Formats: sequence, structure tokens, C-alpha cells
Amino acid sequence: MLNDIQEVFFTKEQLKEITDRIGAQISEDFAGKKLVLISVLKGSVIFMADLMRAITIPCEIDFITAGSYGAGTESKGKVDIIHDLCGDITGCDILLVEDIFDSGRTLQCLSNLLSEKKPASITLCTLLDKPDRRDKSVTIKPKYIGAQVEDQFVVGYGLDYNQKYRNLPFIGILKPEVYNSSAEKEAVSESI
Ligand code: IMP
Ligand code: MG
Repeated sequence: MLNDIQEVFFTKEQLKEITDRIGAQISEDFAGKKLVLISVLKGSVIFMADLMRAITIPCEIDFITAGSYGAGTESKGKVDIIHDLCGDITGCDILLVEDIFDSGRTLQCLSNLLSEKKPASITLCTLLDKPDRRDKSVTIKPKYIGAQVEDQFVVGYGLDYNQKYRNLPFIGILKPEVYNSSAEKEAVSESI
């Protein structure tokens, strides 16, 4: 797996600094609120696990699975809920936790859908932001952003390429030959 990596963008230590910084800010901003962290599966699972441990105020957690980003590196544009929340979020202060804000369509669509459940508030948090990729239709902006990245496809720390590389403890880019040799370029409906 390590042989497929061309360059490391964020080391384990840098990712810890990011989660600690955001966790401290969230703890301050949501003090006294009914905070529910909602992890957008599967990509945010590692970020969520580290972020929740960096939050020092009481909070609950829940999970939502949206699809489909597919097997390639381009968003298909349509977002569905594959697995919905377990709990009732009426009156709660929601923090939607995402791995990467790319076109922005996933978070925009999820926050619209979650607002129908009548939470007190919805705030967005993303580990990475790719501003150059934003879709024109997207009007929302995450309040908490770990770091901005260029328009390059990154993997590791939860982020996948064809469902692989999520278990790398750092974030980096793949060697171009990994994409070129992939036989599964065309998307199948998959969890993001
Ligand atoms: P959006 O709806 O275009 O913002 O896409 C968001 C989803 O696309 C993220 O949750 C990721 O799962 C996936 N994605 C976007 N860019 C990357 C990337 O560079 N690496 C891995 N996954 C990505
Ligand atoms: Mg993905």
C-alpha cells in the first residue's frame, strides 16, 4: 500500500494538531448546547473518532451514510441517503462531520435533508476543503475546516480510492499509475 503513495500531504502529527485545534474550538463554541456529532460515513470515520476525543464538552454521536461518489475520482452529482440516523435530532445542535468538502453537493444535500428533522441548528465541519472544485449550486460553507488542499485526489485517514487506502494513518496522493492501472474506473453505487 505504501508503495502506491507518491507524496504525503499531512502526517499523523499534523492531523493530530488539526483535530486538537478544531476540537478545542468546538468545545468552546458549543458549551451549554445539545451537541450531536453526525459522522458522514465512510470517509469521516477516522476524523470523527479523533475529533470526538478532542472535544471536552458532553456530546452525542450518530452516523449517516450518503452515496454515491462511486469508484472513480469524480462525483456523480446525485446524493442519496443509504443509512439514516438512529436517533431523534429534534431540538439538537448538529455538527455534520465530513472528510472532504469537494463539489460541496454532499454536505449541501445532507444539511437540507437533516433540517427537515427540526434540529435547533446545523453546523458543518470538514477535515479538508478543496475550494477550486466547488459546484456553482453550492451556497453553504463549513464553519470548521481542518486544511485546504489543491485540486488533487487525496487518500488516507478515512479517504479512499475505490474503497482502499482508508487505513493509511496519513493523507497523501497516489502515484498516477495506480489510477491508470485501475480496471474499475467506472462508478458503482457506493458509500462515500
Ligand atoms: P462532494 O459532494 O463533491 O463535496 O464530495 C464529497 C465526497 O467525495 C467526500 O465525502 C469524499 O468521500 C469524496 N471525495 C472528494 N474528493 C476526494 C478526494 O480527494 N479523495 C477521496 N475522496 C474524495
Ligand atoms: Mg470516498
